[in-house]
Amino acid sequence: MKPRSVLAILVAIILACFFSAGCSKPPEPQKDKAPSVAEKTAGSLTLFSWWTAGGEAEGLAELIKLFEKENPDVKVVNAAVAGGAGTNAKAVLKTRMLGGDPPETFQVHGGAELIDTWVKPGLMLPVQKVLDDNGWQGKFPASLLDMVSSNGQVYAIPANIHWGNALWINKKLIDENKLPPPENFDQWLSACKTLKAKSITPIAIGSRNKWPVLHLFESLLLSTAGPELYSDLFAGKAGWKDPKVGEALRRLAALMELANTDHAALTWDQACALVKDGKAAMTIMGDWANGYFKTQGWVPGVDYDAAAVPGTAGRFMVITDTFGVPKGAKNKEAAFAFLKAVGSAQGQLAFNLKKGSIPARIDVPSEQFDAISKKTMESFKTDVLVPSCAHGSAVREQFVTALSDQLSVFINEKDVAKALDALDFAAKDSELGQ
Ligand code: GAL
Repeated sequence: MKPRSVLAILVAIILACFFSAGCSKPPEPQKDKAPSVAEKTAGSLTLFSWWTAGGEAEGLAELIKLFEKENPDVKVVNAAVAGGAGTNAKAVLKTRMLGGDPPETFQVHGGAELIDTWVKPGLMLPVQKVLDDNGWQGKFPASLLDMVSSNGQVYAIPANIHWGNALWINKKLIDENKLPPPENFDQWLSACKTLKAKSITPIAIGSRNKWPVLHLFESLLLSTAGPELYSDLFAGKAGWKDPKVGEALRRLAALMELANTDHAALTWDQACALVKDGKAAMTIMGDWANGYFKTQGWVPGVDYDAAAVPGTAGRFMVITDTFGVPKGAKNKEAAFAFLKAVGSAQGQLAFNLKKGSIPARIDVPSEQFDAISKKTMESFKTDVLVPSCAHGSAVREQFVTALSDQLSVFINEKDVAKALDALDFAAKDSELGQ
């Protein structure tokens, strides 16, 4: 075949293809086409938390359900690491964050844990747009937004407010023994002694992980020191050898004497189970215990009740679980979509009803909440608010760890003078307030 005929055949083939495809103009380049919301968020969302125990796991499941409903193309990978208060999860998170494998979003306490650990080193994205895009200005209390903000930028969306300084009682045991609600430490101690004399374990504690002892101690410190000194201690404005700290330590030692002897073998929820099973009369825990008791079929106000740890009435130990987006998140669209579910009124309702906490938003109807949570909502509005140390808000991690370590030595040795020296050293070493 002559070269000219070959050329003619080729032109004919090209023209035939062009017209048979019905293309009157070349196809649009892919990049000019705006992706749909589904295309943008498609893929997976790795969701990191430590919510695996009764109540907390059910709360998380509600958030996932809502997210999946609104983002059906995204596969949720629930990467929860068991261990109350993030005992194990926080270390795993650090490895992932520093190893270039951050989850799309993770549970983090507002305050120092979010700001000092993750925001200041430059590892988080601002999330103000979640509030702006959804018209959520004014929907969260300013005190809470302060805990998730740095340099005027919001870095996480609060899922809830937990009440930390709560004493949970088995109503049957307390009523049977005709014990009036203790208003101060001495009354509390004497009620405990009455129970002990009748061979009832007064207080359930699970100190297998160190944090429940710090959780108890910070409420005792709030009662002996009051909110101002409590805050000054963590801000490095007051010395840790203060007699009020000594008194809190003495109270801790006295209560540990009245606790279950196997406390070192139990987790927080196993300690709650002792109360639930009638093997102990009370426990001190954040109101995730409320979520736990409900999963056990216990009825608030009937089987159990809660009051402020004696000596802390009118003061509210604030714990807030929040979600942020790390800079290295692979699927940022999905991460922001999850934050939207967390912050939505619907998400806050479904999550908090199971979790035992109260909504972070001020506009979520309270009708469906139990009497304990309703009272907590009122207390949050009227009480003096202080941030929890045990749950990462009051102070940066180095001091939280040092305090936990020293308290676990203290509950064995019960040497107040030695503990005060150690706390004073730890406070200076951690350069509190700087
Ligand atoms: C806290 C957290 C709560 C609850 C608790 C026990 O630190 O804020 O949401 O999960 O630990 O795991």
